[in-house]
Amino acid sequence: MARGMGAAQDLDFSRMSFEFLAGLIGHIAHPLFVKDREFRFVLVNLALCEMIGRERHEVLGKTDFDLFAPEQAAFFRSKDVEMFATGATVTIEEEPITDASGSAHVLRTTKVPFRGEAGEVTHLVGIISDITEVKKLEGLLRSANEDLERRVAERTQELVGAQEALVRSERLAALGELAGGLAHQLRNPLGVIQNAVGLLRRANLVGLGREALDIIAEEVGRAEHIIHGLLDFVRVIAPSRRNVSLLTMVQEVIGQQVCMPGIDVHIDVPEAIEACVDPIQVQTAMSNVVRNALEAMPSGGTLTIKGAESCDGIELWIEDTGIGVSSVAEKQLFSPLRTTKPLGVGLGLSTARNLIAAQGGHLDYVPGSERGARFRITLPIARSACA
Ligand SMILES: Nc1ncnc2c1ncn2[C@@H]1O[C@H](COP(=O)(O)OP(=O)(O)O)[C@@H](O)[C@H]1O
Ligand SMILES: [Mg+2]
Repeated sequence: MARGMGAAQDLDFSRMSFEFLAGLIGHIAHPLFVKDREFRFVLVNLALCEMIGRERHEVLGKTDFDLFAPEQAAFFRSKDVEMFATGATVTIEEEPITDASGSAHVLRTTKVPFRGEAGEVTHLVGIISDITEVKKLEGLLRSANEDLERRVAERTQELVGAQEALVRSERLAALGELAGGLAHQLRNPLGVIQNAVGLLRRANLVGLGREALDIIAEEVGRAEHIIHGLLDFVRVIAPSRRNVSLLTMVQEVIGQQVCMPGIDVHIDVPEAIEACVDPIQVQTAMSNVVRNALEAMPSGGTLTIKGAESCDGIELWIEDTGIGVSSVAEKQLFSPLRTTKPLGVGLGLSTARNLIAAQGGHLDYVPGSERGARFRITLPIARSACA
């Protein structure tokens, strides 16, 4: 080690021949050149000649204007002038070039002053590094980083969404329990009021008394309807399944609706289709969707109910030609307590979706119909072991 170091210290550059130093420089892997104060190349190495696709004798004694396009030569010259004027190192951080073989490179060139014995700058030494690969890696790193940031942002968004959904569902569960309890409690006093209305009717009231009685009866009916909806929403009990005819369920639901003038009902459900479901729960769900469809056509229209069977299950399409659903309202269709109706409660669709989900099916709004709204219910097909 000590001998090695000693040997290195013994190197005497002043005794080295010009040929030896020129050979050493000539074989340095980085392109290297020396220019005099007239901007002429006085020394170039092999790597530089290969890069610009010229022989050494073609370069020596020439200036940039003899070798490169005028615009590029002028740029090089401005940097050379700057270095000679300031006597300080000038660096061109990034410079795209196309080499002699036509490949694109990015170069970093450093121009260093070389001083004579009196300290004056006699030459300019240029050392070029090919940073093409570094730039490529930087680009890859940047896009990998951007990709990572985008994925982190997406994941964060998902987590925030999941957290909000959790809070909402917890709140809803608590609210549901409270509402269910309240609904039960309210049923008794409402029943008492209804009995009292019955008694008063027997008194054959007339005029204002009769009118007030009718109002009370109507409002009690409405309160019962709300309580009914709340209880349906709160208690989705385990379904009691059996194989039932889809057409029969649809016909019963339509039969229960209050007849509305100006509404055509088309039922296109093959008789043979049977589902493995709890018919009461499915009918409650269908009835909520059908009632909405009828309410959406106050001045008449067509209600179409179509059924079809595929290997995935049963599909039931309920379509109306009513007022339709705006894209804003669409996002909240199935959110509980969202209603656009003055006397609405906003529990019909969310209850229907819960009931259909309890059968292992789905209830969705399917946008895209020309007029009105379209909903799809999917249900499991009848099977030998349906329970
Ligand atoms: N067939 C339909 N056409 C247009 N809007 C509909 C339809 N079905 C549901 N909606 C919209 O969805 C909302 C929620 O429906 P729902 O949960 O049944 O509650 P409600 O009927 O008490 O308003 C309705 O207020 C209405 O704005
Ligand atoms: Mg409704």
